[in-house]
Amino acid sequence: PTAAVIIVAAGSGTRLGNAEPKAFVLLQMRPLLSHALDTIFGMRELVQIIVVAPGDRVSDARAIAAQAARRHDVLAAAASSTTSTGAAPTSSPVPSRTVTIVAGGRTRQDSVELGMDALLPSVDIVLVHDAARALTPAALCDDVVDAVRSTGHGIIPGLPVVDTIKRVADSGAILGTVDRSELSAGQTPQGFPRAMLADARAWTLQNGRFEALTDDAALVADAGLPVNVIPGHPLAFKITTPEDLERAEVILHAAAT
Ligand code: CTP
Ligand code: MG
Repeated sequence: PTAAVIIVAAGSGTRLGNAEPKAFVLLQMRPLLSHALDTIFGMRELVQIIVVAPGDRVSDARAIAAQAARRHDVLAAAASSTTSTGAAPTSSPVPSRTVTIVAGGRTRQDSVELGMDALLPSVDIVLVHDAARALTPAALCDDVVDAVRSTGHGIIPGLPVVDTIKRVADSGAILGTVDRSELSAGQTPQGFPRAMLADARAWTLQNGRFEALTDDAALVADAGLPVNVIPGHPLAFKITTPEDLERAEVILHAAAT
């Protein structure tokens, strides 16, 4: 493959508040990681898939990935046999997806780094995606790959900000209102030419700015490299709090009925 997706799933999910790390929390009876893999399995092109899991949950993540791949193959086979007219079912209608699992680090940045260490030599476009954005449509991932390919820039999905954003002092006093028209709420997957992401990470590490930067796009932009925003998708929201998980349950329930 020439594109790879690194699914970062090594966080603990403190704000969600479950005993389990967030990627293993169930949504409609399946771990969030399984949903995140559905997204990537649904992409138009075959990509290298790397899952960065908590160090003590690597084998659990491997089992989830194997199960998700089997499930995807069964669904894809069923879909192709209903659309093909009378042809005998072939033995292996879709290629099985292999997923590389690696242990993550203390911060998201560390986890991205450990995921990048597992990239195949043939990969020239890298997407970094939060497992916590479990309902992200596959088409958004395809859009990011296409945009990286056509521009050579870093690409992140973003949504317009609907709330009025205030700058507030410690005292609670309003200091000002931020011009909403120039704001965008960043999502994942965030895609980059591989060399751009690697160079930006090296630059950031050298300049001691790692701790200040929260996403991959910030890191690349901080290194002076071009990053563009493309339209994001409401379903790419991040499951952070119990309310977010409830919202995801409601969305899936409504989709199934
Ligand atoms: N992540 C990771 N490694 C870390 C921290 C975060 O791979 N050391 C991943 C999470 O698994 C998640 C994504 O980064 O898919 C976005 O992070 P966030 O939503 O903050 O998840 P958590 O860090 O798990 O949650 P919290 O901050 O509430 O503890
Ligand atoms: Mg976190």
